[in-house]
Amino acid sequence: MDEIHIVGGKKICGSIVVQGSKNTVLPLMAASLLHAGVSVLRGCPRITDVFCMEEILQRLGAVTWWKEHDLYLDCTRANGTEVPEQYAGKMRCSVILLGALLGRWQKGAIGYPGGCVIGKRPVDLHLYALRSLGAEITEQEGMLHASARKLKGGEIFFAKKSVGATEQAVLAAVLAEGKTVIRNCAEEPEILWLCRYLRSMGARICGEGGPCIEIEGVSALQGGEMKIPADRIVTGTYLCAAAATRGKVTIPNAPEGELDAFLEVYRKMGGQYEWKSGKLIANGMGIRFPVEYLETAVYPGFPTDLQSPLLAVLATVDGESCIKENIFENRFRICQELAEMGAEVQTDGRKVKIRGGRLAGCRVRAGELRGGAALVIAALAAEGYSVVEGNSFIRRGYENLCGDLRAAGGLITEDTGSIYI
Ligand code: UD1
Repeated sequence: MDEIHIVGGKKICGSIVVQGSKNTVLPLMAASLLHAGVSVLRGCPRITDVFCMEEILQRLGAVTWWKEHDLYLDCTRANGTEVPEQYAGKMRCSVILLGALLGRWQKGAIGYPGGCVIGKRPVDLHLYALRSLGAEITEQEGMLHASARKLKGGEIFFAKKSVGATEQAVLAAVLAEGKTVIRNCAEEPEILWLCRYLRSMGARICGEGGPCIEIEGVSALQGGEMKIPADRIVTGTYLCAAAATRGKVTIPNAPEGELDAFLEVYRKMGGQYEWKSGKLIANGMGIRFPVEYLETAVYPGFPTDLQSPLLAVLATVDGESCIKENIFENRFRICQELAEMGAEVQTDGRKVKIRGGRLAGCRVRAGELRGGAALVIAALAAEGYSVVEGNSFIRRGYENLCGDLRAAGGLITEDTGSIYI
């Protein structure tokens, strides 16, 4: 059954160890393809997006295996260059494989990328980056075909900051001939981790974490190994679950320094937090103030991925809040569901105004990953019984949302039989 069952009204209180970061591990998996040997990613989240990327790599000829949460990728005999649409269509991030395929074999083809239904999500910047390094790209029958005699380092200036396109450019440039300079690149922590990982494989990169990355191409890479850092968005999600229920959580492995914009808003809403020996202790018992105005932004601004979870918290707060979504235009899909639970919600283009208060449980439907997690948060705070349909969207990015929240006191289960246990 693709449903989550929740009896709301219990405070989320406890200590939750957060899974490895989805948005970090996926590009690292793509990067592993650049080396004809074994790479190890430790502490990987066991989520469906990772399984999907694993399946794509297998399809390209990689041999993969797991030891608990450590993922081994042996790309020695990988020789496929085509990612069929049935895989690419499931997960938008797969488009970055094009840069890795070009880097390793000077050619690659991929079905038009899919992913969450949260906006237009074009790939023009990805293609621009690859063309800047000498790739020729054509679109035939829903597939993007890219090839080059040999990728050559070049100047890339992004007209707009994009996480995926920056990753694409980095993946293509590390084995290109000569120097690449990428300007106006994304500065998200995931970019830092990708560059660190590639450096551990022998790539020559500097400047990551800032607006300009410089890469000196090398002729080959060696095997990589990295411990995947804790997921900043999952950390924020659990803080939101505790905030919406006026509970208190400790995250022993929270990624310090990666959540500052979120924590500032958390404090403004009346939450309190402190860092103690690397642990994040967040007390949401005093959450009561609406957020007058907030815009999502590229890092280090407020992350678009936490906009829906925050909206769920604001649905429980008296008074009017206003959020403007600047990254993905279609990220207000949960507004109707929040309204059904009792919040007053008004959308106007990229802006949403929400007036919260007491919510009542009901049947709602998740249409995408973060919106799904947000509906779970709202249901935990609502009075009575809720069903959140669309758990498969949530499983794309959360390894054990229900189990983690249940261990922290929530009456929540994927299995209707055990809700009161
Ligand atoms: C990544 C994250 C996603 C997060 C997003 C923004 C992964 C797997 N996903 O997505 O969770 O919400 O960053 O932090 O890491 N754009 C273009 N042309 C392009 C590419 C992007 O116009 O070629 C636009 C997008 O439509 C969007 C903006 O740029 O408006 C930012 O998108 P981008 O940073 O690329 O997001 P993703 O890498 O897809």
